[in-house]
Amino acid sequence: MANNYSPLVASIVVVLFLCIAPCAYSDAPSISDICSKHNNPVFCQEIIKKKQGSELSDLAQYVIEQIQTRVGSTKTALDSMIQQAKAPRLVEHYKSCAWHYSDAMNGVEKTKQMLESRDYFGMAVAASAVMTHIDDCASSEAPGYDPSVFLVKTNQDLENLSVIVMIIANRLSGN
Ligand SMILES: *[C@@H]1O[C@H](CO)[C@@H](O)[C@H](O)[C@H]1NC(C)=O
Repeated sequence: MANNYSPLVASIVVVLFLCIAPCAYSDAPSISDICSKHNNPVFCQEIIKKKQGSELSDLAQYVIEQIQTRVGSTKTALDSMIQQAKAPRLVEHYKSCAWHYSDAMNGVEKTKQMLESRDYFGMAVAASAVMTHIDDCASSEAPGYDPSVFLVKTNQDLENLSVIVMIIANRLSGN
């Protein structure tokens, strides 16, 4: 009798044994581990610590939504900044930013789609495109000329948020 079921029991034990260490880590990614790969770990932890214990894909979804909300509200803010700015050079800068933010919005949408279709490489590429569009806004004017503290800070935050998504995409793809 024992000989009939013990191979099954043995294989279950083996599976459990093999699974304990790696499965425990993949189910509960550590926030500090993820953020140790970030150039601004404190910012990274501030953003995702409230999601401690979430799966990687949920974490990614959460950060992408944060980006989407901020890109959308900043695009709206830029449209009125264009109206209000007086110096032509500044108007041009904000117009350029509004343009780059529209591209960023499309990039965020693409990042979301890639996550949903589990194309993690595509997700990392899309997130880096978002970062590039934001950086194009930031660098469309000489540093220090833009008096909008809000825009400078938002650009930095969005670039930092995009880096979090890239790190998570990298982890999801098994690297
Ligand atoms: C992240 O934010 C910090 C300041 O909050 C900024 O100095 C840095 O340039 C940002 N990182 C990126 C990649 O933009």
